[in-house]
Amino acid sequence: MKHVAVVGASGAVGERMALLLEERRFPMASIRFLASTRSAGRSIVFRGEPHPIREISEASLTGVDVVLSSTPASVSREWSPRAAALGAVVVDNSSAFRMDPDVPLVVPEVNPRAVLEHKGIIANPNCSTIQMVVALKPLHDAVRVRRVVVSTYQSVSGAGMKGMQELEEQAQAQARGNPLPSPVKFAHPILGNCIPQIDDFTPGGYTKEELKMVNETRKIMGDPTIEVCPTCVRVPVPMSHSESILVETERPITPDEARELWSGAPGITVLDDPLALAYPLAASAAGRDDVFVGRIRQDLARSNVLLFWCVSDNLRKGAATNAVQIAETLLKLAPASR
Ligand SMILES: NC(=O)c1ccc[n+]([C@@H]2O[C@H](COP(=O)([O-])OP(=O)(O)OC[C@H]3O[C@@H](n4cnc5c(N)ncnc54)[C@H](OP(=O)(O)O)[C@@H]3O)[C@@H](O)[C@H]2O)c1
Repeated sequence: MKHVAVVGASGAVGERMALLLEERRFPMASIRFLASTRSAGRSIVFRGEPHPIREISEASLTGVDVVLSSTPASVSREWSPRAAALGAVVVDNSSAFRMDPDVPLVVPEVNPRAVLEHKGIIANPNCSTIQMVVALKPLHDAVRVRRVVVSTYQSVSGAGMKGMQELEEQAQAQARGNPLPSPVKFAHPILGNCIPQIDDFTPGGYTKEELKMVNETRKIMGDPTIEVCPTCVRVPVPMSHSESILVETERPITPDEARELWSGAPGITVLDDPLALAYPLAASAAGRDDVFVGRIRQDLARSNVLLFWCVSDNLRKGAATNAVQIAETLLKLAPASR
């Protein structure tokens, strides 16, 4: 039985992490919840008992076997290697180590055995990437994915607690007839808006979030030839990311064949009956662990191009669920792992 620590326990992902460990009955000898001095002293109810949030320190990480970390990348860069040096395996949700060649980047439905290559840290991918690769994997295995054009519609919870608060505060101000408070987390007011910018811009005109989707997809799928053309957009939705995906494959595939592949694939629910108004929706995916696909159709001109709509809860499968599944996979494939 493992001693577990949730680091970043007071955050949007950290809160879900505690919930997921409880829901999935993760086997553990003990649990501790860590964050910064800002939330130290608050408590989290886990399995019916209040647990104090403690400040992260070498002392609070000593004796821990599994760390589930969801802090900003700068904090992970400092603390995840220290936790690993103290003997823990760290599943890190930040972008700090994802592209490090010595750190596996894992989605259990896609590359579970990569967990075995860890040297103390396993990276959890970006939320938009996770749901996309879960959907692409069965297609890639059957007809080989060559090129993906994706536009995302990402919820404000993707920007953590402060992103959720910003939408809420703007909505309350509007309801009271007050001027909208100035945006802090987002570059523009998010209420009533779609912002085609997530994270900072890079010199080529893509944002860092977009380049994460390009590079992480190739690493997880183990295929550096897959072309990904992303546009990432923040929308005023509290929970779940939606994605419009066009996928070009090496061999032709029909929507029926794709539906059959997805129906048999782990972690995917097909919801594709447009005449009954049944297709994936952000609000109905919230609180669920699956990746939902629908609106499946063929390109009007090409038999090797499919279009579909893909939705998943970014705080669950896009973060906490995937992280807990990584820890479960490690326990299953390497029970004696440190
Ligand atoms: N939100 C998503 O959908 C999502 C999806 C995938 C990955 N991620 C990644 O997961 C990480 C956390 O995201 P989030 O959305 O949960 O953010 P969040 O709501 O802002 O939570 C951040 C957490 O980090 C803690 N923290 C901040 N500075 C710290 C420090 N110096 N020492 C110790 N703890 C510190 C915070 O604790 P205090 O309360 O004490 O400040 C809080 O618990 C980020 O790297 C993010 O990129 C997020």
